[in-house]
Amino acid sequence: MSSASVASRAVRRVVQGMPTSDGAGVKLRRVIGQPQLPDLDPFLMLDEFGTDRAEDYIAGFPDHPHRGFETVTYMLDGRMRHKDNHGNEGVLVPGSVQWMTAGRGLVHSEMPEQQEGRMRGFQLWLNLPARDKMTTPKYQEFGPERIPVATPAAGVTVKVIAGSTAGIVGPILQPATDPTYLDIALAPGAQFTQELPPDYAAFLYVFEGEVSVGEETSPVRTHQLAVLSEGVQIRLRGASPAPARAILVAGRPLKEPVAKYGPFVMNTREELQQAFADFQNGHF
Ligand code: CO
Repeated sequence: MSSASVASRAVRRVVQGMPTSDGAGVKLRRVIGQPQLPDLDPFLMLDEFGTDRAEDYIAGFPDHPHRGFETVTYMLDGRMRHKDNHGNEGVLVPGSVQWMTAGRGLVHSEMPEQQEGRMRGFQLWLNLPARDKMTTPKYQEFGPERIPVATPAAGVTVKVIAGSTAGIVGPILQPATDPTYLDIALAPGAQFTQELPPDYAAFLYVFEGEVSVGEETSPVRTHQLAVLSEGVQIRLRGASPAPARAILVAGRPLKEPVAKYGPFVMNTREELQQAFADFQNGHF
C-alpha cells in the first residue's frame, strides 16, 4: 500500500448552511445544494430543519413529485406525516428514518403532525445511477427502535442508519451508492475512528457542539459541514465542553452526467423533459 492509500481523511473545506425556505414556506438550512456546495456526488442536497417555532414548519411540504433519486428523512424531534399517490402513508416519529427511492416517480406530501413544539431533522437527497432511475418506487422505513446503536469507545454513541461501525450494521440496503449514515454523539474529549472506502465521497455535519477531525487544529462547529478528503478512515474527537453530535455520511460517487431541475434528477435534458411530460400527464 502507498502511504496515500492509508491516509486518514482530513477536512478539505468547511461549508456553512444557507438559510432558505422550501415546500409551502418551511424555514430550513440548506447545506448541500446551494451555491457554495452545489453537490457532492452522489449527494445532491442536504437540508437541516430545526426550530421551536410552529410558524417555521406548520405549512409543511404539500404534494410534490420526485423522479430519479432517493430522499432520506431522519427525524430528530417532532412528527411528520408522509403520504404518497401510491397509497403509502405513515408518521415519522423522533429517531425514525425514511429512505425513499423515488425511482420512476411518485407524488407525495410531508406535513407536520403537530401544532406546536420542536421540529428537527435532516433531509438528504442521494442520486441513483442511470440503470436505477426508472425503478419502481420503494421505501425503507425504520422506527427508532430499529436503528441499532453502537458504543465503540467510552463517551461515544453511534446510531447506525446505513453502513456499519464496530460490527453493528445499519438496516438500509442500497448497493449502488453503498452509503454510510451515522449519527455520532461524542462526550467532551471522546474519540472515535470510522473506516470508510478510501475513494468514497464523505462529509461530516455537526449539529451540536464542536468536533475535531484528525490533526486539524480548528474544530468543525455547529451547523458546519466538513467536506472530507479521501482516505481509509476518519478520526473524530468531541471538542466542545458540552457533548457534540454530528452525522457522518459517505457514499460511492456515481460519476455520471447530472441533469436536474427541481424535484427531477436525470442524466440528460431529454430525460428531464420526459419527466415533466410524464408528471403533467399523470403517469407518476
Ligand atoms: Co419530497
